[in-house]
Amino acid sequence: MRERADRLLDMALHVRGESRYVDDLPPPAGTLYAAVFPSPAAHGRIRRLDVSKALARPGVRGAFTAGDIPGDNQIGGILPDEPLLAEGEVHCVGEPVALVVADTARLARAALGAVELEVEKLPAVFDPRETFRKGLLIAPARTFAIGDVDAAWKECDVVVEGRVDSGGQEHVYLETQAALALPGEGGSMKVYSATQGPTAVQRAAARVLGLPMHLVEVEVLRLGGGFGGKEDQATPWACLAALAAFRLGRPVKLVLSRQEDMRLTGKRHPYSSDFRLGATYDGRLLAYQVSFYQNSGWTADLSTAILERTLFHATGSYRIPNVRATAASCRTNLPSNTAFRGFGGPQAMLVVEAAIVRLAEALGLPPAAVQEKNLLGDGDVLPYGQRYHGGQARRCWQEAKTRYGLEERRWQVAEFNRTHPLTKKGLAMMPVCFGISFTNQILNQAGALVHVYTDGSVSLSTGAVEMGQGVHRRLREVVSRAFDIDRERVRLQPTSTAQVPNTSPTAASTGTDLNGRAADMACRAILERLREAAARELGKDRPELVEIREEQVFYEGRQTSLTWERLVAAAYARRVSLSAQAHYATPGIHFDRTAEKGEPFAYHACGTALCEVTLDCLRGTYTVDAVELVHDLGPSLDAAADLGQAEGGVVQGLGWLTLEEVLHAEDGSLLTSSLATYKVPDVHFAPRKLEVRLLEDTENPLGVFNAKAIGEPPFMYGIGVFFALRAAMRAFRPDGEPGFVAPLTPERVLLQLAGDRPL
Ligand code: MTE
Ligand code: HPA
Ligand code: MOS
Repeated sequence: MRERADRLLDMALHVRGESRYVDDLPPPAGTLYAAVFPSPAAHGRIRRLDVSKALARPGVRGAFTAGDIPGDNQIGGILPDEPLLAEGEVHCVGEPVALVVADTARLARAALGAVELEVEKLPAVFDPRETFRKGLLIAPARTFAIGDVDAAWKECDVVVEGRVDSGGQEHVYLETQAALALPGEGGSMKVYSATQGPTAVQRAAARVLGLPMHLVEVEVLRLGGGFGGKEDQATPWACLAALAAFRLGRPVKLVLSRQEDMRLTGKRHPYSSDFRLGATYDGRLLAYQVSFYQNSGWTADLSTAILERTLFHATGSYRIPNVRATAASCRTNLPSNTAFRGFGGPQAMLVVEAAIVRLAEALGLPPAAVQEKNLLGDGDVLPYGQRYHGGQARRCWQEAKTRYGLEERRWQVAEFNRTHPLTKKGLAMMPVCFGISFTNQILNQAGALVHVYTDGSVSLSTGAVEMGQGVHRRLREVVSRAFDIDRERVRLQPTSTAQVPNTSPTAASTGTDLNGRAADMACRAILERLREAAARELGKDRPELVEIREEQVFYEGRQTSLTWERLVAAAYARRVSLSAQAHYATPGIHFDRTAEKGEPFAYHACGTALCEVTLDCLRGTYTVDAVELVHDLGPSLDAAADLGQAEGGVVQGLGWLTLEEVLHAEDGSLLTSSLATYKVPDVHFAPRKLEVRLLEDTENPLGVFNAKAIGEPPFMYGIGVFFALRAAMRAFRPDGEPGFVAPLTPERVLLQLAGDRPL
């Protein structure tokens, strides 16, 4: 029994190679395969588009363009600015223009070469600052402000300025974008989609097909990683598969190859930012002004929401009394950039940390001294009006500092650098405070559906999508704790819009919080009925005295003859409902976008990392010696999954700032379109020492069983590696001023260290 039940664990299925992704589903009889014809031009007017020659190719069953769409040619989530297939104009290299469907994927791809497209080129923009100058914004720029910055500069003993540029980041989920669409009876459509947002896919597919949402069902078993890249951008591929299935009346599968995926989908938003930071001579921050230029790509996608989170995290983990932060989503002729772990937060934190480093350099103080002096404490008001409370920023900092011996390490590094002329070490502390909740308040709701079967086994459906982060494990734990039954009795159903409707994407690190609370509520509704049934079964009259502990039923604290299984069977025999649906909405959060003030977050997830690197100054190559961190998690629902999130987040975060570089040619096509040219950290590049200490004794009334969310926050510890590297570079060239351009690839480090011009 236990052996079979445990096979439900994703981990076991992965190890056995038994877990099924969209591409592993046995194709239904008659399945056809689709391939996408992408725009070869970054911007232009379509003069001629003809798919007739492609249609005549061997094995081809259909070829579709915008005119073949029965409903709206529109899939934009936040703003309606994204046609499913290009119409009239193309706006980036890689924009889907046509779809070819054939008996095999190979035949479909082979026929793409016969699609005829003539484009009259129009000027293209790739630089967000140029976009800003031309006024090509996706939405009006926004400003968050507190205090009076203009007046505060006068109070400052020192004011520094600078510019920070951060690059894009490819998601490198192991499973590429994929969908399988099955036409059903009565004009219905079932779509298996590798998406973080089944409802978003359902809504868009219904719109494209001109169907009511109840005729479209979207199901997700699990993803081979999403990392934000499938929050919005699984939608086009699902809609294209659905379009072809609708037109041809046959199942259609669309799976992007790695190279297609890298070329056609968006990445983390590159940002270019200007900062000005002022402080007293002893490092107390007084005023901060920052402007963010977000490289949004050709559609809104999630850019405006990401920009909003950038503004929320403009001041990082610090209290700054006078702030003005302005941000603009700048439309460019690149594939639309999209959600990526941290959702605009990392880009903001990099800038404030850079500003602090430059300020510390100007003051002749260690950056850590300035960081520590200004860390958020309970009661501090953030620029958007929320009071910081219960976040443990200072406690994590102190624990990291003593546990990992900052003072001693600093001395050791100085000694190492004194005795090694060509190799230098660098250290940096990186505090993170990340707001938990969707910044779009509406999305902070979730549903759950629990069934208890007559044998005592339990099934749970929610809107949560499992993508490797372990949300199914945690939700299983929630149900097992709510009933106090064995975890093995609980099974997570595939995520389906027919089971739980109107769901938010699994994103913003809220998967467990939102769906877990809904699941807990549903379990409690069933539990109440079970208590009543137990009391009646036992001939007692006070159901509130019934308890279930480890599958045994107790009355007034004394064990009874009833077990979980017997109780469930008895309740069924008494015709008691063993199913419940529940809905949870995070209480208390609100935000006013006119005043730009409110309390958008349920809470903050905080911690501090100490990062150490060793740099070979002749070669520009480096190793990450250590990332050691203290993170406030609270009582873990699943220690292994949480540790995995922390470790994986750190490595993904430091990859963004070191090895991973997204490069485009002058015509806007992607140069780094394979894993041979786009380098992600591997096991050899991961920190030699990666220590994660999780605080377990803290409380969080808005979490599940007091735990805090952990999906995204650890990503941002990786930012410390950038500053540790910079410190090592400065140890080699104390006269140098390396600027703040990320990623610090070994190539860039070398050019900065050895360039004939001063740094
Ligand atoms: N971990 C794995 N293994 N795979 C993923 O795709 N996505 C990250 C994070 N951790 C991701 C991951 C992102 S971007 C988010 S928002 C959260 O997981 C989403 O899941 P959660 O809300 O359940 O934490
Ligand atoms: N995070 C992730 N996804 C989102 C958010 C957010 O804050 N808001 C809307 N979509
Ligand atoms: Mo995560 S970027 O919110 O999917």
